[in-house]
Amino acid sequence: MIPKHVAIIMDGNGRWAKARGRPRVFGHIRGSSRIKSIVEGASDLGIRALTLYAFSTENWTRPDTELTVLWKLLKKYLIKEVKNLEANNVRLKVIGEIDKLAPELQTLVKSSEACLAKNTGLFLTFCVSYGSQREIVDATKRIVNDVISGKLMATEINEALFENYLWTDFLGDLAKVDLLIRTSGEQRISNYLLWQAAYAEFLFMDVLWPDFSKENLSQAVNDFSKRQRRFGGI
Ligand code: IPE
Ligand code: IPE
Ligand code: MG
Repeated sequence: MIPKHVAIIMDGNGRWAKARGRPRVFGHIRGSSRIKSIVEGASDLGIRALTLYAFSTENWTRPDTELTVLWKLLKKYLIKEVKNLEANNVRLKVIGEIDKLAPELQTLVKSSEACLAKNTGLFLTFCVSYGSQREIVDATKRIVNDVISGKLMATEINEALFENYLWTDFLGDLAKVDLLIRTSGEQRISNYLLWQAAYAEFLFMDVLWPDFSKENLSQAVNDFSKRQRRFGGI
């Protein structure tokens, strides 16, 4: 079985650069250049949704010099890749606290999403200033508001309804993560898709993100296909 939804924690850029005696941002530059081929690889493998962790709510604590480069790289990616994504029938979404980004970048995000909205292929989602706890709190606030305004009754709240308020709502049934990959060897979830990954298969790979290749992705999919998922059954 091919995983329908693959989520990746793209980790290890800093260590990749350090191993080469270069500044951390060198790793981010190389790391961002890997995304194109991984998106192609995901489409080729028949994956329906690919969700990439690009920047967490906790990453704001990094030095300004590093943040500036990360925002430049996101901007560059969008400007450079939208045409390609269009040619590959990819739908694009950026989820997270988009309102914290520079206004110009927010506009670029919105126009890139709009450009690709009618496509019918892979759902490519970037998580930017994303934190799963923030997402869940945000959903809760909006549910409470809807109850207060009489749009919703408290008795109607269940898991399915809750999912409609998460930032991944646009993915519908695909929002549930099948395979969660973290590169760089770290074995933690770092506030990523806590709800959506409730029954995900986890794969921690000893490759740093700037070295991650299409072959690594196929390897991960192959590993997934051998897993036995029970969802609590027998
Ligand atoms: C992942 O690489 C990219 C972001 C978190 C933005 P890191 O920058 O975390 O690289 P390491 O983990 O320090 O090697
Ligand atoms: C998680 O990586 C966030 C992204 C890959 C964007 P971090 O490097 O920020 O996570 P920790 O600090 O190792 O948990
Ligand atoms: Mg890291």
